[in-house]
Amino acid sequence: MKLSAEKIQSNWVEFNTNIEQHITGDRKQKLLDFYKKYEERISLMPASHKKEYHSAFPGGYVDHVNRVVKAALSMSAVWDGFGADMSTFTQEELVFSAINHDLGKMGDSEHESYIPQTDKWRRDKLGEEYMHNKAIAFSAVPDRGLFLLQQHDIKYTFNEMIAIQTHDGLYDPANEKYLKSFMPETKPRTSLPFILHQADMMAARIEFEIEWLPKFKNNLGGLKSNFTLGTNSGKSNIKNKALGSIKSEGLKNIFDKL
Ligand SMILES: [Fe+2]
Repeated sequence: MKLSAEKIQSNWVEFNTNIEQHITGDRKQKLLDFYKKYEERISLMPASHKKEYHSAFPGGYVDHVNRVVKAALSMSAVWDGFGADMSTFTQEELVFSAINHDLGKMGDSEHESYIPQTDKWRRDKLGEEYMHNKAIAFSAVPDRGLFLLQQHDIKYTFNEMIAIQTHDGLYDPANEKYLKSFMPETKPRTSLPFILHQADMMAARIEFEIEWLPKFKNNLGGLKSNFTLGTNSGKSNIKNKALGSIKSEGLKNIFDKL
């Protein structure tokens, strides 16, 4: 799947508007500055490295994050309607956590996490459009995201730390210590982590449906074993003037091939 250059650009505007509208205090400008500094990398990042996951295409990351922000706000209203104690977190904490929940996917301040897969067999057979950049030491996505925030002097609250840390819910066994407690005193004291997790899961599922269900519904005679992003839709207009000056080490290769 491909996003048009216009969609990538409007997603970036929406991403920054969410910060403008929901984040307050000192950290608002710091967050805007941080994302400005890494605009090229982040606006063009995929949301995952493998096409079977979700949004593994240029611009997929911001597309996903914007959907999670919207979903988190809607999901929060559902929890409110069912009687959750909404005084245990703020809307700013909800949106801040949603905006930054997957930040660790960008890599470190110098290098991208995801670079184009160079192994043709892995691309074709395993659907790995991207591979891990070996220049970076391993870190779980939430840990790297929180590290990046503190590295850029962007403060986060205790609630935001737990929400970002556990946004994958019990899909990540490391979260059991927070989410699988049977003792009331060690359970989270806010529903924020559950709301963010549900929003993230719903967004990823919907992204899967947008990309994959049409392929099943249209009875195309089965998926091509060597299906790649390049065969998914018509001509790309991503390589336009606005995006023509990409400096990023990884994404340049991808755009050159489109
Ligand atoms: Fe996510």
